Amino acid sequence: MANVIVVGAQFGDEGKAKVTDLLAKNADLVVRYQGGCNAGHTVVVNGETYKFHLIPSGILYPKSICILGPGMVIDPKALVNEIKSLEDRGHNLNGLKISGSAHVTLPYHLMIDAAEEDSRGDMKIGTTKRGIGPTYADKCARTGIRMEDILDKNVFNNKLAWIVPRKNVILERLYELTPLSVEAILEEYYELGQKLKKYVCDTSSVIFNSVNDRKNILFEGAQGTLLDLDHGSYPYVTSSSPSAGGACVGAGIGPTIIDRVIGVAKAYMTRVGEGTFPTEQFGEVGENLRQTGKAWAEVGVTTGRPRRCGWFDCVLGRYSVRINGLDCLAITKLDVLDEFDTIKVCVAYKDKTTNKIYEDLPSIGSQFQQMEPVYESFSGWNKSTANVTSFKDLPENARKYLNFLSQKLEIPIVIVSVGPKRDQTIVIEDPIHGPKRVLTKAL
Ligand code: GDP
Ligand code: IMO
Ligand code: MG
Repeated sequence: MANVIVVGAQFGDEGKAKVTDLLAKNADLVVRYQGGCNAGHTVVVNGETYKFHLIPSGILYPKSICILGPGMVIDPKALVNEIKSLEDRGHNLNGLKISGSAHVTLPYHLMIDAAEEDSRGDMKIGTTKRGIGPTYADKCARTGIRMEDILDKNVFNNKLAWIVPRKNVILERLYELTPLSVEAILEEYYELGQKLKKYVCDTSSVIFNSVNDRKNILFEGAQGTLLDLDHGSYPYVTSSSPSAGGACVGAGIGPTIIDRVIGVAKAYMTRVGEGTFPTEQFGEVGENLRQTGKAWAEVGVTTGRPRRCGWFDCVLGRYSVRINGLDCLAITKLDVLDEFDTIKVCVAYKDKTTNKIYEDLPSIGSQFQQMEPVYESFSGWNKSTANVTSFKDLPENARKYLNFLSQKLEIPIVIVSVGPKRDQTIVIEDPIHGPKRVLTKAL
């Protein structure tokens, strides 16, 4: 039995879904604990590509129970579409469970997200415009509507009757948009709720009972550590807690049940949206990392925006190890570096004003903006790694590169991914049952 969190160790899109799909083979439950349909999680199995936004990436295993936890925000329209498209492809969703406490994204959240972004000008966040921030804002303001609310027409109507006129003031007066009607939202979203009703339950007890039955539970993070509301590059973050601590709150379980935390990071780095990205590369290097035109090119799964690309950043990597208490790391997309003559790694930051060097970031606040990366260069391997199945068969320079990252982050790399397909994966050590990192260090 092991309960494992898979968490993004960078700015999102690290390949969490591929790693989750891989580990879900031996999991009884796969749980999403935060975020909403801002996530775009890609799994490639038997030549078929699946793009998940709300449903956990474990759903492709017929026996697994997949949970949308209370910490998520759910756009019922997007969820109904996602369920339908999986059913159309012949998948059974009997194992799907949705927390009644998850908050619901409604039309005014989508409108306000878009309008706020447009009004920010140079200060825009670059959100996915999926209503994520406004839905979480309502949750915190205690004006949110939850999944269980939309199942009861009276409750739903009463809540909408209070909130919609207030949202209309914002829509009309602040953004000059057409006001919304309570009746129209009620009709459409009550119907959507009825389609989802059979999946809605108290997911926290499902998880707790599974813990007691010694089942294997996988918690699938969305977004990444540096997009975390508290620990990311604020304000250029999402509005939830993608980091490992968020799994307990967002799933409704205690930290004592967690056995292991696996971080997922690309062999380089990407970011979609605005915000500081110290190792970002422009021109040829950025374009070569983006690999435009390939099936898995660095393009946002949810919005289709090109991802900004840059070199691996060990300072942020070490930060992510700390914030998540990572036990081990899965490095993805090593194959993208196959044709580079020189590969750079950021090993420290230099403060542009004081010239002070930092291997660890003292704070990810305002100081983050004034740091410039200090690089070490590595010779590339100029050889395809796409079909390599064991660590020892990787080119020597690729092994050197991975060992360097492992040493700098002081954490074992247990999985290396060399392509989008399930079998394009090198498992170096058992990712689930290895020693705890903290204990290993103490020895
Ligand atoms: P997630 O949001 O963290 O699950 O990641 P995304 O699905 O948004 O982005 C990862 C992209 O990289 C997807 O297109 C994957 O199919 C692809 N991918 C994952 N691992 C590898 C890999 O090792 N090599 C290559 N070339 N593509 C990969
Ligand atoms: P997955 O789970 C990458 C980014 C957006 C924007 C910021 C806030 O696929 O890794 P939001 O819509 O959440 O208010 O946008 O966060 N962002 C992501 N970037 N991967 C994601 O999810 C993301 N979800 C949100 O681009 O910069
Ligand atoms: Mg993604």
